[in-house]
Amino acid sequence: MDSSLRLAVVATCLLVLTSACHGLQVGYYKYTCPRVEAIVRDEVKKFVYKDAGIGAGLIRMLFHDCFVQGCDGSVLLDPTSANPQPEKLSPPNFPSLRGFDVIDAAKAAVEAACPGKVSCADIIAFAARDAAYFLSAFRVKINMPAGRLDGRVSSSSDALNNLPPPVFNVNQLINSFAAKGLNAEDMVVLSGAHTIGRSHCSSFVPDRLNVPSNMEAGFASFLRRRCPANPSPANDPTVNQDIVTPSALDNQYYKNVLDRRVLFTSDAALMTSPATAQMVRDNAFIPGLWDGKFNRAFVKMAGIGVKTGIQGEIRRNCRFVN
Ligand code: HEM
Repeated sequence: MDSSLRLAVVATCLLVLTSACHGLQVGYYKYTCPRVEAIVRDEVKKFVYKDAGIGAGLIRMLFHDCFVQGCDGSVLLDPTSANPQPEKLSPPNFPSLRGFDVIDAAKAAVEAACPGKVSCADIIAFAARDAAYFLSAFRVKINMPAGRLDGRVSSSSDALNNLPPPVFNVNQLINSFAAKGLNAEDMVVLSGAHTIGRSHCSSFVPDRLNVPSNMEAGFASFLRRRCPANPSPANDPTVNQDIVTPSALDNQYYKNVLDRRVLFTSDAALMTSPATAQMVRDNAFIPGLWDGKFNRAFVKMAGIGVKTGIQGEIRRNCRFVN
């Protein structure tokens, strides 16, 4: 590549962080495992049509994988005697993160078709993409670049240090996404995933239900009836995040933010800066705007810290390093 072209590519990478910058490619398995995307989609479909919540789990799994050690399947690793506290057991993931069975089923089906070719990290990215497709009634169609390798490091403390907690304010949220190469708009757009799935009461009680609360009064009293005042591991029910369209990946989240009917401080925080508040209004009121923005931000998130060469491997079993 001549030096001016190389400079232009580097400048573009810095500006937009495209997947081309870390070597990911759409259709990466065209020759080595041509049916992989169809195989993963079939598995995801089976699980999501039985329980839409599993689809929410898969979308969250991609976020939790990518923010910790990059998108490298580190969230899938089980505890071992050498590593008793992997990411999977960290408070942000345990016991709330779900969808691991889908990844196991997809990996088994993919290994049967093309052994040793497809990474677990790519299977998470495909599965999350497919969950978005089914839960959006086929509106969110993402071309997911692939070519990620699986990492060998997984630590509970890394998850705690890199995943934003639900008590973050808007500046903390922006900084936590910036640390991963995502901007404030990506943060607002990806938070829209809180239009599906559930939360345990412990993720927002007591802080969000204290009086006075910024939450809309009717929603707060509904939640007070559903949640114990002091949730504990033995008594920690779940509630839907979106009370209007709980299983639809749509822009209802932004209407809920405007109506102050959202669970977390981090959701309500989007209205506390003029720029993010304007993004909330645009996503709520401009039809179709959020779908396209979500598509692009999702691919960007799926390109965080991707491993290549000796940094990674293709695991035989997603739960253990080779
Ligand atoms: C902006 C910072 C974020 C914070 C503070 C946050 C926090 C949380 C918390 C506390 C829960 C509930 C966990 C539980 O108690 O069960 C949750 C659920 C969820 N989050 Fe986030 N999240 C954030 C961003 C994201 C992003 C970027 C995505 C994906 C693009 C995402 C997708 C989801 C989904 C789909 C669920 C429901 C999961 C299920 O039903 O199993 N979140 N989030």
